[in-house]
Amino acid sequence: MRVFSGVQPSGALHLGNYFGMIERAIAWQAKASEPIYFVADYHALTSVSDPAALRQSVREVTLAFLACGLDPKKSIFFRQSAVPEVHELAWLLSCVTPMGLLERCHSYKDKTARGLAASHGLFAYPVLMAADILLYQANTVPVGKDQKQHIEVARDIAMKFNEQYGSKSDPVFTIPEPDIAETVAVVPGTDGQKMSKSYKNTLDLFGDAKAFSKAVMGIKTDSTAVADPKPTEGSTLVALHALVSTKEETGNYIADMQKGGRGYGDYKKELLAKLDARFAPIREKHAELARDPQIIDDVLADGARRARALAEGTLAKARRAVGIL
Ligand code: ADP
Ligand code: TRP
Repeated sequence: MRVFSGVQPSGALHLGNYFGMIERAIAWQAKASEPIYFVADYHALTSVSDPAALRQSVREVTLAFLACGLDPKKSIFFRQSAVPEVHELAWLLSCVTPMGLLERCHSYKDKTARGLAASHGLFAYPVLMAADILLYQANTVPVGKDQKQHIEVARDIAMKFNEQYGSKSDPVFTIPEPDIAETVAVVPGTDGQKMSKSYKNTLDLFGDAKAFSKAVMGIKTDSTAVADPKPTEGSTLVALHALVSTKEETGNYIADMQKGGRGYGDYKKELLAKLDARFAPIREKHAELARDPQIIDDVLADGARRARALAEGTLAKARRAVGIL
């Protein structure tokens, strides 16, 4: 069973990334042998045009994974660009990918609608993502719900390729499955929309404590008077509280809001205390690791070597299948 997932180095990691992907992906370390995680720096070129920011972000994501529990002895962690073989595979996959499949992808439409350049890279993004996944013969891909369609595209491409070039008894690629937790499928941001760096509504995992507290205290709520019961259905405060509390604790939080008599400020403070308590160990570990940045280089170098060895095997198989080797 091969578990594989990644994140783009395109800005500070937030609670949506943590609950939607990082925590779940790292939990696989205890259940599967040698899960693979990576920083998708080639993908980030579709949105990041500052080379220094890209370099810095790759290091930050690596450090963040280590702080969140990545164990480089149990898993492989690498940067995408350390395994350039992925581009050759992406080309082989491109040649069996129908245009219509990519034209239906929401992500391209959403990102261009938000002002991202409509580049060929952005359009072909799902093919490169399929190559990432198929290169490592992944069975399971833990991601947030917004990536579900991309995994479906990877499955479609793998099936098409297997059908065209593989034999039933020896398919070229493993067909991957998404691993998405419905309960945390979409973590809301401070404005109630999906938390995303592109909406500027994030609560960042690491960084300035004051800014974090300000962002939590600034979570958008309605204008219900202090004395009145507060609506709890669809409440961002309740949704975030549920991520870091037991069912019973969130039940009490909801019951208290429904009673009325206290203002939103109190509920935000309570949420902030819960979030701070939950992330204190991870943040401490982060600060400790940041004092020895050499560990980032070591983890990336070791991961690159191990990932590349696996990638070479799959690429040779795919090359042979199409008649290039
Ligand atoms: P962003 O939307 O901030 O650009 P990314 O697209 O880089 O985030 O997402 C990285 C990973 O985190 C993906 O697996 C994605 O599905 C997950 N993720 C991002 N935001 C959320 C969210 N609000 N809720 C759940 N998962 C999320
Ligand atoms: N598209 C993913 C995101 O924006 C990042 C990514 C690239 C990825 N390749 C992948 C995730 C392969 C899982 C598997 O978050």
